[in-house]
Amino acid sequence: MARKNQTLGEFIIENQSEFKYSSGELSKLINAIRLAAKVVNHEVNKAGLVDILGAVGDTNVQGEDQQKLDVLANEKFIQTLKNREIVCGIASEEEDDFIEVNSHDEQHQNKYVVLIDPLDGSSNIDVNVSVGTIFSIYRRVTPIGSPVTLEDFLQPGRNQVAAGYVIYGTSTMLVYTTGHGVNGFTLNPAIGTFYLSHPNMQFPETGQIYSVNEGNYSHFPQGVKDYIKYCQMEEEDRPYTSRYIGSLVSDFHRNMIKGGIYLYPKSSKASEGKLRLLYECNPMAYLAEQAGGKASNGFKAILDIQPSELHQRVPFFCGSRKMVEKAEEFMKIYS
Ligand code: AHG
Ligand code: MN
Ligand code: MN
Ligand code: MN
Repeated sequence: MARKNQTLGEFIIENQSEFKYSSGELSKLINAIRLAAKVVNHEVNKAGLVDILGAVGDTNVQGEDQQKLDVLANEKFIQTLKNREIVCGIASEEEDDFIEVNSHDEQHQNKYVVLIDPLDGSSNIDVNVSVGTIFSIYRRVTPIGSPVTLEDFLQPGRNQVAAGYVIYGTSTMLVYTTGHGVNGFTLNPAIGTFYLSHPNMQFPETGQIYSVNEGNYSHFPQGVKDYIKYCQMEEEDRPYTSRYIGSLVSDFHRNMIKGGIYLYPKSSKASEGKLRLLYECNPMAYLAEQAGGKASNGFKAILDIQPSELHQRVPFFCGSRKMVEKAEEFMKIYS
């Protein structure tokens, strides 16, 4: 039973029998993420104080300039996960290829793979706006005892055993699911402890916020253009309010609490949109469904897509169920 004010540590122990495979390993893994989140939180909080701002000068595999905190967060998460005998592989937005992690006995005994977006919304760091971390966890599909392979990472989102995000905002929160609803924990920075503050989070069935980078409007498919016009129409409970931070984690978090839809469609400039299926869309889609919301590529559930490559991008429509269904209706007209 989730009790408000319970610490995350207590919650993990009390609820580990709910895990499909309750060997305690998944609990250890969530604990490792909790620890890395605190370390990264510390780095994010002091970003304005020390000389760690600005682009490192490298360009990552996504063709983006890497910010120093991207690199730092990536290192902290990978290091924390590597130090435990749970994970056989890690894939990250910031790494070209997946990283193999061997068990200390070199027998490939570790069962889980983790996929991460170590720092989401990195363009917001320099302007003191909320950023996040997104994680996604699967059981490997190849046999224990053999090296991890790409196949272990290219699983449909439906196979996730846990997923979540950390939001480094006005408060730092860790929000996650293991397939039994979504719970949110708020960090008390004075003592470094996460407390259950948002038990059983639910997307309102519908809402009045739409979140999209409207600067790309003229490049959007006609279905998206028409849906945006529908959001702006003076009718029933509309016009909706437009809110767009440019950090997926923050936009999602707000919409889950208040009710809303987030859209990152494809465009004539980006044929599959921008967001990454494995590091961003799948974990958010799993959380959305667990919270009674919906996530789709405009036509089908994100979680049912069979990935074909690590850094695959996908159009993303996510949020309150009825709003996503309405957007899909518009998409269908032009399909
Ligand atoms: P990241 O910082 O991990 O590369 O992700 C940025 C993503 C996502 O957080 C955000 O919603 C989206 O990019 C914003 O893109 P635009 O600036 O194109 O709107
Ligand atoms: Mn990036
Ligand atoms: Mn991101
Ligand atoms: Mn990122």
